[in-house]
Amino acid sequence: MIPLVKVGLPPKETLMPELENVLYSGMIGEGEAVYEFERKFQKQFELKNSMAMSSGTGALHSSLILSGVKPGDEVITTSMTAEPTNIAILQVGAIPVFADVDVLSGNIDPASIERKITSKTKAILIVHYAGIPVRLNEISNISRQYNIPLIEDCAHALGAKYSGVGVGNIGDFGIFSFQAIKHMTTVDGGFLSIKDERFLRDAKKFRWFGLEKGVARTEVDITSIGYKYNMHNVAAAIGLAQLDVISEKISKHVSNGKYFDQNIPRIPGLEVPTFDAEAEPSYWLYTVLSDDSDNIESCLKDIGVQASKLHRPNHQHSIFNQYAGDMPQLDEYYKRMIHIPCGWWVSDEIRQNIIDVLRKG
Ligand SMILES: Cc1ncc(COP(=O)(O)O)c(C=O)c1O
Repeated sequence: MIPLVKVGLPPKETLMPELENVLYSGMIGEGEAVYEFERKFQKQFELKNSMAMSSGTGALHSSLILSGVKPGDEVITTSMTAEPTNIAILQVGAIPVFADVDVLSGNIDPASIERKITSKTKAILIVHYAGIPVRLNEISNISRQYNIPLIEDCAHALGAKYSGVGVGNIGDFGIFSFQAIKHMTTVDGGFLSIKDERFLRDAKKFRWFGLEKGVARTEVDITSIGYKYNMHNVAAAIGLAQLDVISEKISKHVSNGKYFDQNIPRIPGLEVPTFDAEAEPSYWLYTVLSDDSDNIESCLKDIGVQASKLHRPNHQHSIFNQYAGDMPQLDEYYKRMIHIPCGWWVSDEIRQNIIDVLRKG
């Protein structure tokens, strides 16, 4: 079966010696490998003030705290995402306010964001769902106009760009995930990028119990709470090896995504996500919209290709249910959407077979 998502690791011959080196180096915690990974990742993805973390969820939690979100505050967000996006809001004691989504892309709808703003709104948290950048021009304008920090959840969108700039660079904060099935994995890991460099010192303290690294433990003074959100050298060694192969892998996602963008809309009854002309998606998953998505699932199953939904709209969980409002566009999107694989493991022949089967119906 060609899966929807797949763990991608660098070749064994290059990864294993690096892993062995770090594992027996006597330095397996946060150290030079992490700092080297940070420098190289920042350079490759053109990020500025940023740091490696233990997970994307840790990066989300940090970004909300650094945005100044306090218990009882409201954070405008999307329900069409993986749960960590919104669990992080609950972790800081804030209230997720679900904006509706665009009916074709599943991405948060700027007009709905604007309608949800109140005096209690302390952050706007957007997700570049499935690797498609949200309408960042409009959303950045809203964030500036109302002076509300913008957090970009780029967990699905490593390598995506908007107006030629890498996602994660446009909002006040950007978060990335290196969890098992993302474009790039370090088994688990994350990255936080910060627009205003003055926050970086606090962010680094937040990542390490509230302690300042580099100051003698007997001298250092904790003034605010922090967590154990650091990346360790073993994950960083995997990350460093990944950086040699990731651009090629992302290019394959993009090539397959563009191929589907061109060919699927020509098939009667099928639609695909739309996005701004400034957006360059990195196509973590591909999404097809149809009134009969069950049929797509079974046709593709017959040729050994997995197709399915991947996420449950978060407001359907009991823990979020009390925050659910009307989201007619999300209901419509979720009813019609189905994901098909488009990652580096989908060959030219498979993608052609997918189109042939969809065409036959
Ligand atoms: C959209 C989204 N945000 C955040 C996360 C959290 O990332 P992590 O698993 O690295 O904590 C994930 C993945 O799990 C995700 O898909």
